[in-house]
Amino acid sequence: MDSNYLPGDFKKIIVSEEEIRGIISRIAKEITRDYSGKKLIICGILRGCFIFMADLIRQIDLPVEVSFIKVSSYGSGKEPGNIEIIEFDGLDKYKEYDIIVVDDILDTGNTFCRLEKYLKDKGFKSVNFCAFLDKPERRRSAVRVKYTGRQIENEFVVGYGLDLNEKYRNLPFVAAVK
Ligand code: IMP
Ligand code: MG
Repeated sequence: MDSNYLPGDFKKIIVSEEEIRGIISRIAKEITRDYSGKKLIICGILRGCFIFMADLIRQIDLPVEVSFIKVSSYGSGKEPGNIEIIEFDGLDKYKEYDIIVVDDILDTGNTFCRLEKYLKDKGFKSVNFCAFLDKPERRRSAVRVKYTGRQIENEFVVGYGLDLNEKYRNLPFVAAVK
């Protein structure tokens, strides 16, 4: 790799660009099939969702609407904190809509669990979840996630939207950090 990152910044590549393309294509097909004829909002959790979501929605062959939600979970570093909903660009017509919440990675499950209650209380027709990556070993909250890209081992990863203290989001692949 010809790059400005220092040798040794990353331990190893976990998900390559080619594998990412395959994951996006598969999930987009599943969503297109499952939501045909429905009014669908894809709602991304900021900021980690932004690259995955941008790629995903362009492969979904349905007239989807887009929304974002901001939650506080990781203050800094690698440890989770309390989940608080900071901002939801709520859309006032949600009662006729199905919603899929999209995130970069499913870790403890606390964020999805919190959002499930919040969005069901708002009256969406259905609330489902989509995570690009999944670390099943770390799960603490039981949540049913309808679409997942790939399971990974319990290690901290960056790239393709995922950050460590706001860095590395722009890597086109997913890597484990030192
Ligand atoms: P959960 O509520 O524990 O499932 O946390 C999910 C959130 O934790 C994701 O939206 C990420 O922001 C963050 N996260 C969890 N694992 C990683 C990782 O390996 N790299 C970067 N962010 C992570
Ligand atoms: Mg996040």
